[in-house]
Amino acid sequence: MTIPAELDRHIDAIITHYPPDKKRAAVLWLCHLLQEHFGFLGEEQVQWMAGKLGLQPINVWEVVTFYPMFTSKPRGKFHIKVCRTLSCDLAGCGGLLGLLRTKLGVGLDETTPDGLFTISTVECLALCGTGPAMMINDETFERVTPEKLDAIIDRIKTTGKLDTQPLPAPQPPHPLEKRLILANITKPGYTGSLADYEREGGYTAWRKALGMKPEEIVAEVKNSEIRGRGGAGFPCGLKWSFLAKGTGKPVYLVCNCDESEPGTFKDRQIVHYDPHMLIEGILISCYAVGAKVAYIYIRGEMPQGAKILLNAIEEARAKGYVGNGIEIYVHRGAGAYICGEETGLIESLEGKRAYPRIKPPFPAVVGLFGCPTVVNNVETLANVPHIINNGATWYKMMGVPGSTGTRLVCVSGPVKRPGYYEFEMGKLTMRQLIFDVCGGLRDGHTLKGVIPGGSSMPVLKADQIDVPLDFESLRKAGTMAGSGGIIVLDDSVDIVAATLNVTQFYAHESCGQCTPCREGTLWMEKMLHRLHAGQGRPQDVDLLYEVADNIDGKTICPLGEAAAWPVKAFVTKYREEFEKHGG
Ligand SMILES: Cc1cc2nc3c(=O)[nH]c(=O)nc-3n(C[C@H](O)[C@H](O)[C@H](O)COP(=O)(O)O)c2cc1C
Repeated sequence: MTIPAELDRHIDAIITHYPPDKKRAAVLWLCHLLQEHFGFLGEEQVQWMAGKLGLQPINVWEVVTFYPMFTSKPRGKFHIKVCRTLSCDLAGCGGLLGLLRTKLGVGLDETTPDGLFTISTVECLALCGTGPAMMINDETFERVTPEKLDAIIDRIKTTGKLDTQPLPAPQPPHPLEKRLILANITKPGYTGSLADYEREGGYTAWRKALGMKPEEIVAEVKNSEIRGRGGAGFPCGLKWSFLAKGTGKPVYLVCNCDESEPGTFKDRQIVHYDPHMLIEGILISCYAVGAKVAYIYIRGEMPQGAKILLNAIEEARAKGYVGNGIEIYVHRGAGAYICGEETGLIESLEGKRAYPRIKPPFPAVVGLFGCPTVVNNVETLANVPHIINNGATWYKMMGVPGSTGTRLVCVSGPVKRPGYYEFEMGKLTMRQLIFDVCGGLRDGHTLKGVIPGGSSMPVLKADQIDVPLDFESLRKAGTMAGSGGIIVLDDSVDIVAATLNVTQFYAHESCGQCTPCREGTLWMEKMLHRLHAGQGRPQDVDLLYEVADNIDGKTICPLGEAAAWPVKAFVTKYREEFEKHGG
């Protein structure tokens, strides 16, 4: 096996992004690069990587076999991955898969005899508002119709090449929106370049921050009362203040751009259309918490986002923003939703399987490479420049007590105008969002329910949607704001099928570490298949609830709850539908 000298140099450069005694952390990058070059990761590639990083081959194999994007066997030259999760399912991905299989004459995970195509399904591409969505190699295709699919495949067959797909134009604002994070993206001619960002006032917050003491920045962020936008809604400033001090160890900042929760596609908009807002937020946050190195952990299925970030970091370096005491590196994931959970993410960043850690200790005390670490979501960090520029008092004037500022929400499912929107928190109800902003449901249909914060959150019934969109109101309504991914279900949706789809996701994504989650999610999936096929047994509905209840609260990380809560809510609120299916 020969590695071209240029690739070898690139690999050596990437290894320097991690501490010299933590070279293992580079393994995901190496796997990506070698797979791109050889088409797969077999014995020779694994041996080579192990040698390069000073690891045992098994340490590389555990990574190759854990992450769905890696393969130890050659795939077709064009790997077609069709998203099968709930929003894309509601948009018709099942039909597309059927068409593909007929057109190419192969089944799932099979390769055409000419070695051109392999078809697979994928667990959410974070394109829920523009489904059905698919990727072919690194290219993304949205709103795929049967005609479009035909044309794409025929073109590849004729040219032997895959065309680069341009980013879609950013979505214009709705009059009810209040855009702060998305304010720039639809300005005429705005490209997200450093020059454009600076023209709109970018990096003034960074300059202002440099004139402040780090503890003043932490205090300002604390006073702004901003809560994390990644899912749990933990107060950001408070998290920063928990960082272990005086340990003599470096402090790390990790930006969580794993965005894999079905229904959620907000962080990709920031990364794709205004990457410097995130970079500025990371720089200020690093300065505030004393971190000299930040990693942006970006999900593997966002290769275009990774390229945009790499390019933006180089622009910021050329201007002296990055590399002048603070380094920012991009770390690519490789599939696996569990990498979004902060301790799973840290394990993954260290070059291992993404097995969440038992907390405490929390990352603020023992995090990346055993050092104090802050993990924040993309949107949370993108808010920081605004807080520093305008002050906590200004920031708090937006939103409502307990939920300050604006929030990005993403709407998918059968509404007339799905998409991403930004609102002051608590100033709009779910009803207004669905009917006024998103134009209501398709003609002739009525609302059946809404999943308010990514597929893990308990569903709201149609009569529960007069709830304001903020953390506390949604909590009082028995659910959570979660990741801001809102999936609308109309009267055509079969709740048992939807529950099965969601459960398949969590069963597939369970890391397998905790027995209740590993076994329970598969058991629920099996029962749901049975119910869906109309072959449920009378005891199945109660059993389904009981299995979910036995996962809830009994796992190392909240993926257990993420799997259990939707099932418990669907069974409780739509029991008659489960019973109709033979339960
Ligand atoms: C299974 C699971 C998946 C998660 N995925 C993400 C994710 O993709 N992005 C994210 O920011 N947070 C995700 N989180 C939440 C993170 O663990 C963590 O709370 C968050 O990154 C902290 O950032 P914040 O305080 O700015 O919200 C996930 C949590 C769990 C349990």
